[in-house]
Amino acid sequence: MRKFALITGASSGIGLSLAREFAAEGWDVGLVARRREKLEQIGHEIEDRYGVEAVVIVSDLSQPDAPHAIVEACEVAGRQIDALVNNAGAGMNGGFLERSWDEQYGFLELMLHNYLKLGHLVLPGMVDRKFGRIINVSSVSALLPISPAHTRFSGSLYPGIKSLLVRWSQSLRLEHEADNIHVTALCPGFTLSEFHDVNGARSMVSSLPSFWMQTADQVAKSGYEAVMNNIPVRVTGAWNKFMVGLNRVLPDPVSEALMRAQTKRMKRQLEKAPETA
Ligand SMILES: NC(=O)c1ccc[n+]([C@@H]2O[C@H](COP(=O)([O-])OP(=O)(O)OC[C@H]3O[C@@H](n4cnc5c(N)ncnc54)[C@H](OP(=O)(O)O)[C@@H]3O)[C@@H](O)[C@H]2O)c1
Repeated sequence: MRKFALITGASSGIGLSLAREFAAEGWDVGLVARRREKLEQIGHEIEDRYGVEAVVIVSDLSQPDAPHAIVEACEVAGRQIDALVNNAGAGMNGGFLERSWDEQYGFLELMLHNYLKLGHLVLPGMVDRKFGRIINVSSVSALLPISPAHTRFSGSLYPGIKSLLVRWSQSLRLEHEADNIHVTALCPGFTLSEFHDVNGARSMVSSLPSFWMQTADQVAKSGYEAVMNNIPVRVTGAWNKFMVGLNRVLPDPVSEALMRAQTKRMKRQLEKAPETA
């Protein structure tokens, strides 16, 4: 039987591209998201194009019991989970106090708790079988100074959550070094997907120079290659690598000043050309 990769947030963007990437490499895939119709259409497309099996699992990962139900659905389908891609997510615009505590808590559930819970549920099987591949989709925002744009469009918890995913991935990788389990924190920068439609940042992102943007397929290829080669943290794209490298050598106040200047420049461009929105 082919190996099985469970991919959350597989109905669009980076998750969809990762599902295609795994399938193209001969993996069966479990596709998780809320939109059943999209998932079913993608499942058929993947089965036809790559000749592998696609299992559709409809789930709302902002609900605390979602990970248990997802793992159960895999068991019912007779599948053990050989690879886990924790990817589902959306930015939540507005400052910390502009959102209720329930909204902030729901955000933590989707973006963090359920990543950890899924990891906790699937790892024992991986340890027993001495095989596992895990990608946790983080962000370059985990590795750069906080930008006012992050807190405005993705929420003030976003960079911290993504940082925790990097550190957790590094810990897991070390803990399970002897178990043939590879863990990668995938850190993309601005990527073409539905993400910026959901969080309202589309016009801001449209004002960026094209070298700053990557396609979801580019990110997915890089992520797949990284986890197969057991690379702990993968920053995708030359421009993002450059920024992260620069941030490592510059003193914090200089990096922060550069980030503020960049945000101001983007705001000015937006004011000048609102029709790009
Ligand atoms: N795009 C970027 O610039 C960028 C940069 C760095 C990191 N990232 C990270 O990349 C990951 C994927 O984002 P993307 O850019 O591919 O965005 P996207 O195109 O909007 O895809 C998000 C996916 O997550 C699913 N999802 C959202 N809320 C969900 C929920 N409550 N329950 C289950 N599934 C849910 C969506 O499916 P349904 O709507 O069908 O549920 C969709 O499949 C996120 O973790 C994001 O933080 C994105």
